[in-house]
Amino acid sequence: MKRNRDAWEENIYRKGRHLNRLPYTHVLQFLHQSFESFDLSRRRVLEVGCGAGNNLFAIRWLFNAEVYGIDFSEEAVRVAKNRFQEKGYEGFVLSIADACSLPFRNEFFDAVIDRSALQHNLRDDIRRAVLEIFRVLRNNGVFYSMVTTTGDPAFGRGRKIGERTFFDDSEGVGTRYFFSEDDVSSLFQPFEITEWLFTEEFNVLSRQKRGSYYHLIMKKKGRPTKLRK
Ligand SMILES: C[S@@+](CC[C@H](N)C(=O)[O-])C[C@H]1O[C@@H](n2cnc3c(N)ncnc32)[C@H](O)[C@@H]1O
Repeated sequence: MKRNRDAWEENIYRKGRHLNRLPYTHVLQFLHQSFESFDLSRRRVLEVGCGAGNNLFAIRWLFNAEVYGIDFSEEAVRVAKNRFQEKGYEGFVLSIADACSLPFRNEFFDAVIDRSALQHNLRDDIRRAVLEIFRVLRNNGVFYSMVTTTGDPAFGRGRKIGERTFFDDSEGVGTRYFFSEDDVSSLFQPFEITEWLFTEEFNVLSRQKRGSYYHLIMKKKGRPTKLRK
């Protein structure tokens, strides 16, 4: 786990990489769709693995929600805080924390977002993080997760460190877990999956595949009983 965090710290955020000006549209689509009939203002939304805050400012301004972000990269959180401070944005709570051990009380959040953070962990840690997310979500709260599938062009790149798991030294993004269909059903238990979408991205010029993803929209229904690994 330490090596994984160091990869993000040293190869990505200290080099000023992964700082977007715009949020990812599917994150916003998810919130629109999930909260169409709700007023999100004063509701609490958490992004796990929020990185440099690419999605957070839009969530705050479009939905007026109370926005929380955690990331295990100290540098990512520092950069995100600086970006918001420079623009005079307020209403963000950003902390350095591991998704496997969230520093929040039970049932604190109305929605949790994972835009491709959990997939950068070993399978057992993904499982731990999912259970933590379940714990901090209120009943009927929603969880969006975007994960890379085994059909992604990066599958097999780097050093194999486990089943469907690689450590990609070349790009510097650390551990990568690629989800099979079975993983979705087992790893996201005990959430109820209300939508399961599959998307692929292509380079418009070369037509080469750039990414292959599952997007999961899930609901918390009750408490976990017996959990499958
Ligand atoms: C692909 S980036 C996505 C960043 C952000 N969600 C975005 O959409 O711009 C993955 C992020 O997850 C963070 N991350 C990975 N595993 C984590 C964990 N176990 N706990 C906290 N952060 C984690 C990394 O530091 C990195 O910032």
